[in-house]
Order: sequence, then C-alpha cells, then structure tokens
Amino acid sequence: MNTDREPIGVIGTGDVGLVTAAGFAELGSDVYCVDIDADKIARLEAGEIPIYEPGLEELVARNRDRLHFSTDIAPALEHARLLFVAVGTPPTYSGDADLSAVESVVAAMPPSDRHALVMKSTVPVGTGASIKRRFEETGKTGFRYVSCPEFLKEGSAVNDFLHPDRVVIGDDGDWAGDAVTELYAPLEAPLVRTDIRSAEMVKLASNAFLATKISFINEIANVCEETGADVIEVARGMGLDDRIGKKFLQAGIGFGGSCFPKDVQALKQLAGNTGYHFQLLTAVIEVNELQKRRVMNKLQKHLGSLVDKEIALLGLAFKPNTDDMREASSLVLSARLNAAGAHVRAYDPVAEEEARKLIRGMAFCPTALEAVDGADAVVLVTEWPEFAELDLAEVAGRMRGTLLVDGRNFLDVEAARAAGLTYEGIGRPGLNGGGTS
Ligand code: UDX
Repeated sequence: MNTDREPIGVIGTGDVGLVTAAGFAELGSDVYCVDIDADKIARLEAGEIPIYEPGLEELVARNRDRLHFSTDIAPALEHARLLFVAVGTPPTYSGDADLSAVESVVAAMPPSDRHALVMKSTVPVGTGASIKRRFEETGKTGFRYVSCPEFLKEGSAVNDFLHPDRVVIGDDGDWAGDAVTELYAPLEAPLVRTDIRSAEMVKLASNAFLATKISFINEIANVCEETGADVIEVARGMGLDDRIGKKFLQAGIGFGGSCFPKDVQALKQLAGNTGYHFQLLTAVIEVNELQKRRVMNKLQKHLGSLVDKEIALLGLAFKPNTDDMREASSLVLSARLNAAGAHVRAYDPVAEEEARKLIRGMAFCPTALEAVDGADAVVLVTEWPEFAELDLAEVAGRMRGTLLVDGRNFLDVEAARAAGLTYEGIGRPGLNGGGTS
C-alpha cells in the first residue's frame, strides 16, 4: 500500500465510478469500490470489465492490488474518509433527475465526524444543500459534503481522467474539500474551487452548452442545404475564431449518449421548477430530435417510398469507441425505417449486444460488407474508424442501389463518387446526389 496517498471509497462501479476508481488507484490510492450489483462485483473481482472503455482493462489490471471490490459499504467506511458517489441519476418521466440511488447512499451513511461524500454523479443544483440538510435532520451533522462533477467522455474516459481540462471542487472550505484538492493535485489541472451550488451548475451548464453548440451547427447545416453552402467549410471558418473554437462543430444526425440528452433535459426542468422557462434548451432538444429524422427525407428523396427497400446501417452506438446505445440516433432511425416499411440490417463493431436489447425487427450482420450486400441505400450512423478503411468500390459493387447517406460527414466524398455512389452528407448540398451512375 502506498502510504502517501489517501485511500478512498467509490460507490457505484459504472463508467464514471470504475474509471475514477482505477484512475485514483493509478495515482497511488487504495480504492474501496462498492456496488449493490453482486454479479458486477464478482465479475470485477475476477478481473472482468463490464463496460467497453479503451484502456480501462489495462488500468484496472495494473492497479489490481490497490482496488478492492465489495457489495458491503463497511470496508470503504473503515478504510476511507472520502466516499466518491458515482451512482446513476437517470431522467424520470417528468425530465427531473431520478435521485433515488443517491438517496439510498445518503441513507446508508452512519453518523460520523470523519467522513465526507464526494458527489461525482450529475445532480440538480441544490442537491448538495438538501443532502446536508438530511445529514443534519438525521443526526449526521459531522458528515461533510463535496461536489466534484465528472467531465469524462465515453471512449476516452481513461485519458480524460488522467488529463482533465479542469477539476471542479465545490465545498464548504473544510478538510474534505482540501483532501479532494490534494487527491487531484498530481494531475496538475486548472482547479476551480468554489461553492457547492456553483460546482453543480458548472456540470449542467457545460453539457448544455456543448449540446447547444451541436444543435447550432446542425441547424447551420440544414440552412446550408437550402442555400448551397458547405457546413464543413463553414465550421472550419467559424472554428478558427478562438472565441468559438473548432470542437463540437461537427454537423451530423444528432447527439446521444448517457449525458447530453439527460443533462439538457435536467437543466431545462431545473429552471422550469423555479419558474424560469429556459427557451434555448427547448430548441436544442427539439432540433436534436428532428435531426435524427432528417435521414428519412434524404432516403425518400432518392428512393421514393421505402416500402420493401433494403437499408443498411453502418454503426449503431451513439458515438465510436463505445458500446453505449443510450439515446443513440440509430434507435430513432431504425424505428422510423421499420415504420416506413423498409428492411433494415446493421453492423456495429462493438455495440451489437447492447443494440439487440433495444432494437427489434433488424438483421445484425457480422461485417460492414455483409450489411451492404444487396442494399438500396447505406447510412453511416456512427463514425467508427474502420469505416474510413472501407473499400467503397467493393461497397458499391455489393449494393443493389447507389445511395450512400453519410450521417457524420465522415467518408471520403471523392472516393465515394469515384466508386459510382450517390453521396448525401449533412449540410453539403454541393456534393449531394452527384454520383456518376
Ligand atoms: C459528454 C461530455 O462531453 C462529457 O464531458 C460529459 O461528462 C458526459 O457527456 P459523452 O456523452 O461521452 O460525453 O460524448 P461526447 O463525445 O461529448 O459526444 C456526445 C454526442 O455528441 C455524440 O452523440 C456525438 O456524436 C455528438 N457530437 C459531438 C456531434 O454530433 N457533433 C460534435 O461536434 C461533437
């Protein structure tokens, strides 16, 4: 055991919890991981990683001696002062965050003057205050509270943990905030130490802003389609302005995942609960929903009725390098295609198992080339790197039709056209529909 580094507890071993645990173990802490899912804990103890996250398996394996797994909270309480909370806060029917898992953790804490909860889960502004109130009401006044929101991106979470853009710590200026600051110190990231409510808001506002940026560029792409401009060129010109920045200006068929849709909704709802109508976020959500459906118009423009048409989807996950299907554009698209009478087949290098749980009436293919066999149209849904390597001449040769809808503006347009494909991107009207066949 490394005696220099503070041991910690991590409650919840999902993406955020496991990456945080392995990351702090890498920095030298003993980490006591707790989860109510006995099966998951057994798998983790056996060295099996339940999620697809590049680099995580190696990180866990390398730090196996410092990582302890249990369904019981007691070892974490015994060995650690800081208990990081990384349980799910999914949206409820009303759009508010479901805090029941967080509440169970709070209820399970014993009275203590030497422990603190460190909230990693994304929670509404004011959650910290209400948890502190709960501690007071239940005789746990000495329990400390720190908000430490997580900004990890799926697919690059390990790197994001080790090289964060910033670390945000919201606390009451006590030992717990100091201890969390100390834990993150080796990462040498800019630190924002602030009050708890502001820290909670940083997380929601950051995700809402990024989602807004995506919906904005998607609307620009839609206007480009009407006016003859090319959104790739427009984004390039915009992004060089430091104040705008070039990241998150990729037009496509909408954002998904476990965070953006949920957090935008949660912030809108949080504002609404206070009587404030956050109009901009209403539009961000609506634009995103419509964007997922625009592929249908592109298909119909070229193919007419989709009844009995063979449509191949390349990629199903909400983005590459993950098997996460939450709020993926493919869910909406496959449902719309089914409803329009098309036959849908798909290939995803990693997400098939997850997709099978959520999508009905679709054939899953073991390779991209098998998916495109005999297809009237191919839609690139997720920009997996391997799709850039596809031999487009072979794709064209296997297809029945010629239409290629590139939902992420990812493929080589010239190569597609040279192969005789009819290319349709997002917001690139000058290139669209210009196949040689
Ligand atoms: C996001 C935040 O980036 C992260 O900080 C937070 O902690 C959790 O939510 P993640 O959901 O893993 O991370 O995915 P991200 O890489 O941010 O992409 C989100 C979605 O936006 C994807 O569906 C992606 O395809 C889409 N996107 C992203 C675009 O459509 N265009 C872009 O330019 C960027």
